[in-house]
Amino acid sequence: MLQTPGDFAEWRTAARELLARGVAPEDVSWRDGDEGASLFGDEAVATPAGAVSLPRELLEIAERVICHRDAEVPARLYRVIWRAARDRQLLARRTDDDVVWLNKADKTIRRDVHKMHAFVRFRRLGEEAGRESFAAWFEPSHRILRLTALFFQRRFYGMDWAIVTPDARAIWQGEKLSYGPGGTKDEVPDSDIVEDQWRTYYGAIFNPARVKIDAMRAEMPKKYWKNLPEAQDIAPLLAGAAARVERMREAAVSLANPLADKWRTRVPDELLLDDDIKTLGDVARAIDRCTRCPLYCNATQGIAGEGPEAAKIMLVGEQPGDQEDLQGRPFVGPTGQVLNEALDEAGLERRRLFLTNAVKHFKFEPRGKRRLHQNPTTAEIDICRWWLDKERALVQPDIIVTLGASALRGVTGKSASIKSMRGAVHELAGGTKLIATIHPSFLLRLPDRERAAEERELFVADLALARKLAA
Ligand code: URA
Repeated sequence: MLQTPGDFAEWRTAARELLARGVAPEDVSWRDGDEGASLFGDEAVATPAGAVSLPRELLEIAERVICHRDAEVPARLYRVIWRAARDRQLLARRTDDDVVWLNKADKTIRRDVHKMHAFVRFRRLGEEAGRESFAAWFEPSHRILRLTALFFQRRFYGMDWAIVTPDARAIWQGEKLSYGPGGTKDEVPDSDIVEDQWRTYYGAIFNPARVKIDAMRAEMPKKYWKNLPEAQDIAPLLAGAAARVERMREAAVSLANPLADKWRTRVPDELLLDDDIKTLGDVARAIDRCTRCPLYCNATQGIAGEGPEAAKIMLVGEQPGDQEDLQGRPFVGPTGQVLNEALDEAGLERRRLFLTNAVKHFKFEPRGKRRLHQNPTTAEIDICRWWLDKERALVQPDIIVTLGASALRGVTGKSASIKSMRGAVHELAGGTKLIATIHPSFLLRLPDRERAAEERELFVADLALARKLAA
């Protein structure tokens, strides 16, 4: 008897013991229940820990699949692990009935998780001791609350919240995550001001030219609409869609990026846990999956910094440009060319520097077949500081050179004029030295040759100052 349906730890303990005792699947009767004897009656079970080893991938899948509501799942899963313990290649046998079943069930759960990530809407309850608290009501198709709770913890770390579902609730309070019993919809207020923000946001991102009604129904099934504030706006937005498409056509706007539509199919993977990010490689992988702000929607990829982890000097630019977005590396387009030449002149070797940006996704405005750079907003820079800080913590440069105002904001968290800071060496918390200079793209935009030459000289001097400091 399993006490808590969908509880992976409980199922795993029982399954491990059964496996260790050599109990065949057909000799086990799995039942859900909230009372009664354990699976093994009163007999104490002494199982050598880790006696049966199973492929890690299988356990990861099992952790998801056990959340499926089908009452047969504990038994079917046990059958799979029973077989996998005897056949290490089982998962690779894609046409095997058990493997087909397992993959299908896993897909169902992943989809349910994706829906929950996308469709939970918090309602504000109030504020206590400076922390706002929110609650959300959600009815997932399966028992996936625990699978999703970490995602919400990371997304809404700075506020207290509870997600109430019919089976259980997750509570994030005072930066502690706990679980409690299920509840009902009336525990959560119906609407609040956050709804207005959602509706405004949805209206703003609603792209009439992309509307495919069937696909939309599949992605946002009607069962979720009643809890989604923005769903009320779908009908009027659709009604105006044709006219808006016409206006867009007239303006001859086309998205130049062939990959720009990928966001619709991308499952917003859970961000890596803070503790999971240990190397620059981890940072790069996580940046490419980042959905913290909407810039990821149209960019081809998230672009992390590059260079040796032991670099003494870190150069911070604004954001990747068109070429960087396509090639996946910072400073490889025309601005990168200007920078490379200036670095050479300043006596700095690019391969010894760590080059990165304040914002990790390309922000642009489509214009015909071109993508025109747009400045990131302060909010976008501030959101992306999470990644810059991770890179700084790993590289621990002695000197940071900020290229342009966005980079300066990204590093310091404050808006200051470059003019007021230029020419001096500043000190950041922790002792890192800061040199603030212009963005090299500024040199490309100056029409006056003489002025451009002067500015270039000053720029090279700023870089040379960094070299001297590092020496
Ligand atoms: N401009 C930047 O700020 N960064 C790049 O990576 C490229 C151009």
